Amino acid sequence: MSISEENGVEAIIWQDDHLKLLDQRILPEKEEYLSYHDSDAVASAITDMVVRGAPAIGITAAYGVVLAARACFATATSDWKSPLADSIQVLADSRPTAVNLFWALDKMKAVIEKLPMDVNPEAALLKIAIEIHQSDIAANRTMGEFGAELIADTQDSGRSVMTHCNTGALATGGLGTALGVIRTAFDKGLIDHVHADETRPWFQGARLTAWELMREGIPVSLNVEGAAAHIMKTQDISWVIVGADRITANGDVANKIGTYNLAVLALHHGVRFMVVAPSSTIDMSLEHGDDIPIEERGPDEVVAVKGQQVAPEGVDVFNPVFDVTPADLIDVIVTEKGVVERPTVEKMKALMSNERLH
Ligand code: MRU
Repeated sequence: MSISEENGVEAIIWQDDHLKLLDQRILPEKEEYLSYHDSDAVASAITDMVVRGAPAIGITAAYGVVLAARACFATATSDWKSPLADSIQVLADSRPTAVNLFWALDKMKAVIEKLPMDVNPEAALLKIAIEIHQSDIAANRTMGEFGAELIADTQDSGRSVMTHCNTGALATGGLGTALGVIRTAFDKGLIDHVHADETRPWFQGARLTAWELMREGIPVSLNVEGAAAHIMKTQDISWVIVGADRITANGDVANKIGTYNLAVLALHHGVRFMVVAPSSTIDMSLEHGDDIPIEERGPDEVVAVKGQQVAPEGVDVFNPVFDVTPADLIDVIVTEKGVVERPTVEKMKALMSNERLH
C-alpha cells in the first residue's frame, strides 16, 4: 500500500509487509527504491541518508519499529518487549538532531507499553506508523495554506523566494514543509521564481530541490551558497523559506548548516524569514537552541565531490551539518497548529497548548 500522494514523488512506501525507500543518495541520476525487512538496516538507511529530512526520518523510524516488532515477536520465547527496546534504541541512535525521529519513536513506545505480551504487536504498531505518515501529509497541506496566506499579505515585496536544503516530498510524507508553502504559493500565482541554495556538502538543494521543482514546472535557479547576499541585494526576493530539524521552547531553530547565514543576511537586506515545520519538530523540553545536539559528519562529504577528492589529502575538516538560527532572526514559524510571528517562549507555549494563533 502506498499512502503518499500529491506530486508523484514518494520517498517512503510501506508495501505489503515491508518498507521501500527511494535512495536519495543517487538522485537525480537514478530513481531506485531499496527494500527493507529488518529494522537495523532501516537505522543504517537513516544514518547513511538513503532517506533524510526531519519528518521523513520520523516516519521511516516508525515503520522500522514495525519490522523490529515482527522479528522480536517471532523469535522471543516470552518477552518480546526487551529485545524490541534494544532495536528501538538502534533506530534512535541513527541521527541526533531531527527531533521528529524521537517523537515518532516515543509514539510507538507508548503503544508498545500498553500491549499484552501474548499478542502479536505488528498490526497495532503498523496502524500507528501509518497514522504518523498520514498526519504528516495532512500537516504539509495545512502549512502550505498558512504559509501562502503570509506570502499573499506581502505581495508588494517581490515575486521570488529563496530556499535552502530540501524540504519537499523527499523530506516528508507529502507536499513538503518549506517546499509545500512554495508549491502552494506558486499554484495560487503568488510567486513566480525560486532561488535554491545548492546546500553543501550533501547538495540537497542541487540534487533534490532543483529536481523536485523542475519536475513540477516551478521556475528555479540554483546558486552556490556564497551568492546568497548578492541575490538578496539584486533580485526581488520577498521571503527566505526554510524547514527545521528541531525548534526549542523559545523558538530557536536548528536546520541545515547555512540556514543561520541566510537569516543574518535576510535581516540586513530587509527580506522576511519564514520557518515551516510540523509540530512534531518542536521540542518544548529544550529551553533554547544551544541545547540541541548538532550532528557532525565525516570529512569525506567535504573533501570530495562524488568520490572525487577536491581538497589536499589529509586536510583537517570540521563538518557540522546543522546550525541554530536564534528566534530573534525569525519573522514567522508556520506549523499545522498555527502561525507564530516573532517567536517567544509564551507564543511557543500557546501554540503547543493548542490555543488558536491563526
Ligand atoms: O541532513 P538532512 O538532509 O536530513 O537535513 C534536512 C534539513 O535540514 C531540512 O531542511 C529539514 O529536515 C526540514 S525538512 C522538511
